Amino acid sequence: MTDLTDETLLSPVTPVMSPGAGDVPPIALQETPRKEPPGSDTTRTVVFDVQDLSVRYGDHLAVADVSMEIRKNEITALIGPSGCGKSTVLRCFNRMNDIIDIARINGRISYHGVDLYGKNVDAVEVRRRIGMVFQKPNPFPKSIYDNVAFGPKIAGFSGDMDDIVRDALERAALWDEVKHRLKTSAYSLSGGQQQRLCIARAIATHPDVLLMDEPASALDPIATLRIEDLMQDLKRDYTILIVTHNMQQAARVSDRTAFFNIRVDDEGQRTGYLVEYDRTGTIFTNPNQQATEDYITGRFG
Ligand SMILES: Nc1ncnc2c1ncn2[C@@H]1O[C@H](COP(=O)(O)OP(=O)(O)OP(=O)(O)O)[C@@H](O)[C@H]1O
Ligand SMILES: [Mg+2]
Repeated sequence: MTDLTDETLLSPVTPVMSPGAGDVPPIALQETPRKEPPGSDTTRTVVFDVQDLSVRYGDHLAVADVSMEIRKNEITALIGPSGCGKSTVLRCFNRMNDIIDIARINGRISYHGVDLYGKNVDAVEVRRRIGMVFQKPNPFPKSIYDNVAFGPKIAGFSGDMDDIVRDALERAALWDEVKHRLKTSAYSLSGGQQQRLCIARAIATHPDVLLMDEPASALDPIATLRIEDLMQDLKRDYTILIVTHNMQQAARVSDRTAFFNIRVDDEGQRTGYLVEYDRTGTIFTNPNQQATEDYITGRFG
């Protein structure tokens, strides 16, 4: 498993942009269990600590006021109406917004105590540790085997590639369906199988966290349930964040739920914000905010 005490997140080759920045000693990643306040409901390690996160695209403040702690080996669901910033926030967790030119991030996300946007942090290593699965299955135009082997090869994994591929496919609950056709094109798989292949590809490089943006929205109910079962298995080894529009899915799979809503200012600018973040049982049975209750009971809008 990923060694979180090493310093590989801090790239020794990251160009130093500002004079003197090279003097900053590398910060070791340490997995320090957070002391919980009295009455707190968990002692799980905090993986991400998000403080006052906001994201702009150019002049548009897309999402603001996001503060939350994401805990290890839990599934955290992000829910809310279309355009409230769920995908935007999700992309902040592995710096995928870096590749959107006009995106600007303010606030702080620390990952195991390290500022994810710190100047010595290597975004490529961040994305290896924090893998992503998208709404639409997006296998590479390669064989099933090569899709899974791609990441480990690039990352220079040593060891038997056949074992690495098999292990990832088993964890993604796909091995039995593909073991006799590993060299056939990934495009020959069904949509649900392709999505599990993408999950296998994401976990083949041994990440710490999996980000999933509506991973089952293009799938039928049976394939959806398979993905949900798989998530329950995967959370033993990974911390998972999932964006979903499916309330039942959020209620079924997640340990904690964050509800986002949209406010509209005088100029008509729409900005998403975090309304409420709590244990999923609380959000769905006894939410604190009226807006949350209206949304989860379908009285929204
Ligand atoms: N690449 C981008 N460039 C400019 N604006 C963007 C970009 N991506 C998202 N936005 C804007 O940011 C806001 C939030 O979008 P986002 O995709 O995060 O919402 P969402 O909650 O994931 O919505 P949905 O449920 O429809 O997927 C929207 O107003 C959207 O238009
Ligand atoms: Mg989205």
